Amino acid sequence: MPPIRVDLRSDTVTRPTPAMRAAMAAAVVGDDVYGEDPTVNALEARASALSGKEAALFVASGSMGNLVSVLAHVPRGGEVILPSETHILNDEAGSYSVVASAAVHPVVENARGEMPIEAVLDAIQDPYDSHSALTSLVVVENCHAHSMSRPITAEYLRALRAAVPSHLPIHVDGARLFNASVALGLPVAALLADADSAMFCLSKGLAAPVGSMVVGSAAFIDRARRARKLIGGGMRQAGVIAAAGLVALGDDEFGTVARLADDHRRARTLADGLAAQAGVVSPGGCAQPTGGLLDPARVMTNFVLYAIEGGDSRRAAYVQQMRAQGVAVMAYNHGQVRAVTHLGVDDADVDAVLAASERALAVTS
Ligand SMILES: Cc1ncc(COP(=O)(O)O)c(C=O)c1O
Repeated sequence: MPPIRVDLRSDTVTRPTPAMRAAMAAAVVGDDVYGEDPTVNALEARASALSGKEAALFVASGSMGNLVSVLAHVPRGGEVILPSETHILNDEAGSYSVVASAAVHPVVENARGEMPIEAVLDAIQDPYDSHSALTSLVVVENCHAHSMSRPITAEYLRALRAAVPSHLPIHVDGARLFNASVALGLPVAALLADADSAMFCLSKGLAAPVGSMVVGSAAFIDRARRARKLIGGGMRQAGVIAAAGLVALGDDEFGTVARLADDHRRARTLADGLAAQAGVVSPGGCAQPTGGLLDPARVMTNFVLYAIEGGDSRRAAYVQQMRAQGVAVMAYNHGQVRAVTHLGVDDADVDAVLAASERALAVTS
């Protein structure tokens, strides 16, 4: 197999920028479990300011951030209402159950990645019925990966918050929250105004090597910090990695937030090109439920989900043919192919991917 020239499997494959590496080498550090790492403290203060929340916690990964949030919000045996295609439910090794002893109540989301609000209300259990698990948390994923990584609007969160009883917290799995912010032209704080807590990743499109942030009230973050310790996530001189996150969230020329717009533009160009290729069809599921050809207008951030006419065996051959040309795409759920743009993908790469796809389709037809 030739080496991978263009890696579109995920934005997690991004490598730290030169500015990040320099900041990591120069980072002033201390013991973060004692709260004494100045770089981690600065990153937490930055995350708190950007999110409009009282406090923040640096964690090793998005999965850890979601898990400590569930542990901090949900009592043993409590129930979490969440979208049925969401990462917490399907892609975190069942940690909500194995570690947090929580039950889940999945709600089928629409093509915008939103759970219908009436369905959320319907999922809330009667707290006075001893048969029922106690509904304890509502989760929203923003961007919502399986709907083509659609950004969830502030209006939806506002309507959800207004409808759901005030004692029920709302947590946002914002692994790609900054993509949503850039796509919608709204600050992250506005997207979280009606959420009680959120997790966002530094290690995806923002290109830091490691780490995610959890944000919320000071009392929530105290509980999340204890939960982080419980699961072995207390890190010591973590400033070495936090330094890269601070660069990512900086508003100078080294920050990696504003450039997400380039990834979104390239994803749209890629989708436009793919949609014109014979054999590329609608991805189905909540990514594009209408059937027919791929609709490039569904692409609002950096994910392109599409399907290959001819079913699973042709998709496997297509993915293999792409890889043979040095292009890595991912075989995703529901027979889909996933292509994600990021810092390591430029305009010429998009052209090369489209040419490779044309050839892969021809060879497998
Ligand atoms: C929506 C969503 N949430 C959470 C995560 C978990 O992040 P991590 O891989 O850092 O654990 C991911 C990772 O891809 C994700 O896509």
